[in-house]
Amino acid sequence: MSADVRGLPITVANDEALTAYEKAVAGYLAQKRDTMDQLNAALDADPEFVMAHCLKAYLLKMAFDPAFLSAARESLEAAWKAAGGATDREKRHVIAAGLLLDQKAVDALATLDSIAIDYPTDLMTLKLTQFFHFWRGDAANMRDVIGRALHAWDPSVPGYGFVLGLLSFGFEEDGDYGAAERVGREAVELNPEDSWAVHAVAHTIEMEGRHADGIQWLKRTEADWLGNNNFRFHLWWHRSLHHLERDEVDEVLELYDTGIRGEKTDFATDIANGSALLWRLALRGIDVGNRWEELGERAEAHVRDAINTFFNTNYMMALLATDRREAAENLLTAMREESARNDPLASRAVDAGVALSEALRAFHDGDYGAVVDFILPVRYDQHLFGGSHAQRDVFDQTLVVAAIRSGRESLARALITERETRHRQVPAAWKAEAGMTVH
Ligand SMILES: [Fe+2]
Repeated sequence: MSADVRGLPITVANDEALTAYEKAVAGYLAQKRDTMDQLNAALDADPEFVMAHCLKAYLLKMAFDPAFLSAARESLEAAWKAAGGATDREKRHVIAAGLLLDQKAVDALATLDSIAIDYPTDLMTLKLTQFFHFWRGDAANMRDVIGRALHAWDPSVPGYGFVLGLLSFGFEEDGDYGAAERVGREAVELNPEDSWAVHAVAHTIEMEGRHADGIQWLKRTEADWLGNNNFRFHLWWHRSLHHLERDEVDEVLELYDTGIRGEKTDFATDIANGSALLWRLALRGIDVGNRWEELGERAEAHVRDAINTFFNTNYMMALLATDRREAAENLLTAMREESARNDPLASRAVDAGVALSEALRAFHDGDYGAVVDFILPVRYDQHLFGGSHAQRDVFDQTLVVAAIRSGRESLARALITERETRHRQVPAAWKAEAGMTVH
């Protein structure tokens, strides 16, 4: 029986396959462009490599695009066929991947959580499990899935830095910014290629409203994540948020054109980076030219995906901004159908997405009172469909602007002061329009 770099038993036919698989796992953690190539190399060297098949199924599913689902299923079937002599951990991964592809997210996540408890040095599982907690809006478990594993880790275990990077993001989303920044910076010092840790620190700085620090942090680390996969677009998106809060619109648009949408990719996260930024700019009355058009085209092609509520709300922005009314209506219908199919908790998440999408549509139509009425009842449910605090903030910003424009002055003031209490920036123009003193 072979063992991986951390000593976990692994069923594999030869060293060549194992070496390529280890590179794929490290590449997954570090957002490297060649992760799938390494995984395919592992499978070329050992076509019955169960863990490589499972990781491939997971990665394809996580692309949030139905176009990859049949390939994900092929990987799962190959894993099932090869799993006869597999270890307990490997068999449980085959089960978890199967549950995931069967849309049984709760059971899949429970299986992954149990693997992470029994095999705490299974680094791929820690990353994967945190990711799925992220998409269920469960910040406490994002932190705790890593915390539960820490007894098995110390600096001598390969990949320790990555574990700190994961822990940092868990702390950040759960609101412990001091711990998040300390642990995240330690992770980056140990392992400069850990762009997830860079990202966690960037989130932390943003949540504390330290925009000059955020720009400096992302510029200083850029050389280490420039070679990342699409994740680099998201890191530029983070930098653009800091520039926006400093009213540095030229920098925002330049980052948009050269980085965030420099390549007109079709991945959900990339489209969401673009849509959410353009929507924020529109909230501030900034002309973005024809930048919406390609996003609207791509969003329209994804309308029937119904694969992720967070992404659907971001597609909705692009559909509305390019006046694709029918596609917007179809997206709402797809989301309502999904809600009807789901278990109660998942339905609650989708219902929040439906209400926010209705709010976006009302905003586009200038019916600002309706925007407020759609968002207020669901604003404390919106975390249920996942995404980060920074990503969902676009809805809070939309609500503030709608409250101002609908003349609900007391609500506007309340939301602004609530926002500032959370260290979130409020543009001076919004405060002035709400009749508040601008310092
Ligand atoms: Fe982020």
